[in-house]
Amino acid sequence: MRVRLLDLSQQYSALSKEIRAATDDVLASQRFILGPKLAEFEKAAAEYCRAPHAIGVSSGTDALLAVFMALEIGLGDAVITTAYSFFATAGCIARVGATPVLIDIEPESYNISAPALRRYLEKQCRVVEGKLVNENRQLIRALVPVHLFGLCSDMNEMVALAREHNLLLIEDAAQAIGAEFPLENGFAKAGTMSDAGCFSFYPSKNLGAAGDAGLIVCHHDEFAERLRLCRQHGMEARYKHEFVGGNFRMDELQAAILKVKLPHLDSWSAARREAAKFYTTEFEGAGLREKIGLPVEPYAKSGLTNHHIYHQYVIRSPQRDELREHLSKREIETAIYYPLALHEQPCFEYLGYKPGDFPEAERAARETLALPIYPEISRDAQRYVVNCIAEFFG
Ligand SMILES: Cc1ncc(COP(=O)(O)O)c(C=O)c1O
Repeated sequence: MRVRLLDLSQQYSALSKEIRAATDDVLASQRFILGPKLAEFEKAAAEYCRAPHAIGVSSGTDALLAVFMALEIGLGDAVITTAYSFFATAGCIARVGATPVLIDIEPESYNISAPALRRYLEKQCRVVEGKLVNENRQLIRALVPVHLFGLCSDMNEMVALAREHNLLLIEDAAQAIGAEFPLENGFAKAGTMSDAGCFSFYPSKNLGAAGDAGLIVCHHDEFAERLRLCRQHGMEARYKHEFVGGNFRMDELQAAILKVKLPHLDSWSAARREAAKFYTTEFEGAGLREKIGLPVEPYAKSGLTNHHIYHQYVIRSPQRDELREHLSKREIETAIYYPLALHEQPCFEYLGYKPGDFPEAERAARETLALPIYPEISRDAQRYVVNCIAEFFG
């Protein structure tokens, strides 16, 4: 049996009429940039995320970039993030001229480790003239936790640490739209627990566009306005540029398609959660709990529906590469997110990190394997995946 890592064909078939009608509307209007479809999608997305403002942008990468640019983060600044994420998180920090400061992860959730972050802030940083600086005399401006694989980072700790140290807090929620977190003062959705939340609608995401697209959510009116300017080269009046931004606009076709898909997002994430539950039960039934690391659900007991949205179902094993090869021979697609920790990327050699600096991120990069998951995946396909993994471990 061939099992694809992701197969969105059924999802498209079910919505194709509506999607075609929406894109036809755009084509008939010949209005492609900053038109009514974007305004409609932004309104719906803000409501869905429970955020006062939602700003459609050209990708998740550009969401991060626009936020850093709008906050004037740049040369001489340092921004703290996780050592284990998609490249864009650290890449955008570097692109604005700031230095990415990396922190190790928790081995179970793969998200940034709050104790490691606290140690860094308390042991390697100090306050000079009222500002937090690190050992390289860089100004620590912001903290960027990533909600990896659809599970929120420990935002109670992130909010507390950002407050204690007077840091901007920005969520990289590219993989976590709709995920919920039990904040001390009530539940909150990914992206809304900070100064700004960044999302990606890359086609394989839980909510995927037909190309590149992204979103920023935020609370403050003035900051939202600045972000809107930032996505248009900082332009306020026509051809008058208040500051340097970029072309970070989401186009009307993407907005129209996303608007059709958004109302289905929660049911798709629920179906992913069901599929994840099925995998976990089958792995346990096959006696594999001791052999492979399974995803954790730290917020499941808090009564939240979207406590995990399973953008990916990721297992771990020290024999990851052999296991992947075994599954590939049985026509099961898998993926490695990510084969290198961020400090292992050639382009970040200049940061001066050494092997062993972030042992959990390095171990995750060697051991994790993402299994096929999408809302419509069949139980037969999942059983086949589990059986083939059981066969591998003999
Ligand atoms: C954690 C994370 N951050 C940022 C991005 C960048 O998003 P995009 O691919 O839409 O530019 C992604 C997308 O894969 C991501 O997974």
